[in-house]
Amino acid sequence: MEYRQLGRSGLQVSVIGLGTNNFGRRLDKRDTETVINHALDVGINMIDTSNSYSAGVSEQFIGHALKGQRQRAIIATKVSSRMADGPNNAGNSRQHITAEVENSLKRLCTDYIDLYQIHWTDPNTPIEETLRALDDLVHQGKVRYIGCSNFMAWQLCESVWTSRTQGLSSFISVQPKYNILDRAIEAELVPFCTEYGVGILPYYPLANGFLTGKYHRGEDAPKGTRLAEGDRGMFTAENFALLEALQAFASERDHTVLELAFAWLLANPAIGSVIAGASTAEQVEGNARTVGWQLTVEEMQRLQAIID
Ligand SMILES: NC(=O)c1ccc[n+]([C@@H]2O[C@H](COP(=O)([O-])OP(=O)(O)OC[C@H]3O[C@@H](n4cnc5c(N)ncnc54)[C@H](OP(=O)(O)O)[C@@H]3O)[C@@H](O)[C@H]2O)c1
Repeated sequence: MEYRQLGRSGLQVSVIGLGTNNFGRRLDKRDTETVINHALDVGINMIDTSNSYSAGVSEQFIGHALKGQRQRAIIATKVSSRMADGPNNAGNSRQHITAEVENSLKRLCTDYIDLYQIHWTDPNTPIEETLRALDDLVHQGKVRYIGCSNFMAWQLCESVWTSRTQGLSSFISVQPKYNILDRAIEAELVPFCTEYGVGILPYYPLANGFLTGKYHRGEDAPKGTRLAEGDRGMFTAENFALLEALQAFASERDHTVLELAFAWLLANPAIGSVIAGASTAEQVEGNARTVGWQLTVEEMQRLQAIID
């Protein structure tokens, strides 16, 4: 496994991470434990979850699996989503964050969270209130680093400048949707992160599994796979044409499209960890094995011509 500094922080994260929105939904407690143990054994330390995944069950299962080996993992969880009815049970207010961090700590069976991320922006709460609440959690030792997710470039910029001017802990990472087929963040967010040293943790890095090579034009999705439950708009003629071109590119170089999906993201030094959502031990091992293909400048140019 290879490790990278996340943003300009001192935190070292595995370039292949583990996404966990399948836990508690498509994976039960035992399967979750198996996937996590395999991930740790292949050197993956970055585990991304949220208080809202399976209404807290993902955190619970992770906490259970990490008993006795907590220090092997970097736990990144999130807050913002609605957790109950009532005016203060969602969003990024001091009230909600302060209450919800305790619930996450309890479910995760730990006394600290490595990376606490704001899941969504909250138009009703000033960013200064959110950052002050997070800064307090850092000082209390409940949270070690803070990050955000689904922020636009200007919102991240506003946050970073608020932290700087107010002397508060600053977001070390942002978690946006990003993969070789969906590059919307390249216009604004990626250049901002590169300039200001904010690490990127791409979600849907495999386009919900589409980039793994198991889906084929004109065929039903294999039973039991995520996209068999609904194609999430992926099974279009345009996407299959791109996928086939990427598969050809990869196989000409004795690689798979799965390896390409990871290598293309990791070619950008602003990417910290690719938090792919593996649902079996074999998938985790397969993802870890992709490490090592460093795309050349010429290969990146060829790819650019395919995907533009
Ligand atoms: N911040 C946010 O708003 C947000 C939103 C979404 C997700 N996330 C986070 O980002 C993580 C990653 O996103 P994601 O899991 O939704 O999508 P993803 O990583 O693009 O795709 C996950 C799917 O890919 C398949 N897969 C993974 N490794 C594979 C392998 N080696 N071989 C074959 N198939 C493989 C699995 O499919 P099968 O299930 O079919 O086996 C898995 O369900 C999530 O788990 C979550 O932690 C964050």
